[in-house]
Amino acid sequence: MDKPKKVLVSRQFPDIGIQLLEEAGFELTIWPKDRPMYPSELIALSRDHQALLCTLSDMISKEFLEKCCHLEIISQFAVGYDNIDVAEATRLRIPIGFTPDVMSEATADIAFGLMIATARKMFFLHKTILKGEWGYFKPRGNLGMELMGKTLGIFGLGRIGMKMAQRCKNAYGMKIIYHSRRPNPGTEKELDASWVSFEELLARSDVLSVHSVLSHETRGRFNWETFRQMKPTAIFINTARGAIHNETDLIEALSSKQIWGAGLDVTDPEPMARENPLLSMETVCVLPHVGSGTVEARNAMSSVAAENIIEFYRTGTLPYLVNPPALEK
Ligand code: GLV
Repeated sequence: MDKPKKVLVSRQFPDIGIQLLEEAGFELTIWPKDRPMYPSELIALSRDHQALLCTLSDMISKEFLEKCCHLEIISQFAVGYDNIDVAEATRLRIPIGFTPDVMSEATADIAFGLMIATARKMFFLHKTILKGEWGYFKPRGNLGMELMGKTLGIFGLGRIGMKMAQRCKNAYGMKIIYHSRRPNPGTEKELDASWVSFEELLARSDVLSVHSVLSHETRGRFNWETFRQMKPTAIFINTARGAIHNETDLIEALSSKQIWGAGLDVTDPEPMARENPLLSMETVCVLPHVGSGTVEARNAMSSVAAENIIEFYRTGTLPYLVNPPALEK
């Protein structure tokens, strides 16, 4: 680089990526506050930078991109990028980096953990202790359900869905069915899984776990109509994006016992309101979007997000690129 490129870093990401960028000679501006920038702050600060290192709480909208079309690269610290108007970035020929793979184990652990916690009502039972309601052993009380030999339905069999399926197969001998846009023969073989239609996924899953991206096709895909087609004993797990399910319909489906339980690491909106009825339901477990929240995953995400910027300026391409057409000559 003749003149050091300036990178705006929108949050306080783990040091490892920051050090990589500094060692590679970039000049960094790191947003010092705990909260994300408001759109106007992001636009104002981006003006003076060539690269942006951001994450899912930054709105990289059409308006932002129009005002910041000078940006040479946007590197997202996340596997999901529904906060970014990818079509507009591609039109402006701004490449977008992301951080897949490295957080798949961590996120699958959360999906797997929520499945067990929901099946055994763990969060609810923990709250009874806090309220002084432990009481006596109840031979017929506090009953959950077992997972051994049940059917796991995966919606979106990508990297994370695959890790969830492996866990469920190895731990509980679960039968794996999945619905994705395209069948995935390699994975099917490894997991002894079968592709099924969306309707069949709904009808057959004992546990239905969502691992797809949020797009116009998947937004609100799990709603009253779809919950109605699930088993009354089914558990719904979402660790992908809250807007893939309709939360009002989910509350209704649980209250009217259309489905049995739900484990959510993502909600719509985030953060969820303290008064949300889901938080007091016996068969619901909610976490505050912590899927990738391990030291290992966050450090690796920080490195990958930095490497995407470093490699772009070194070689003209990114190891993990969302929009290849942005770099076509
Ligand atoms: C987290 O939700 C991510 O997309 O990385």
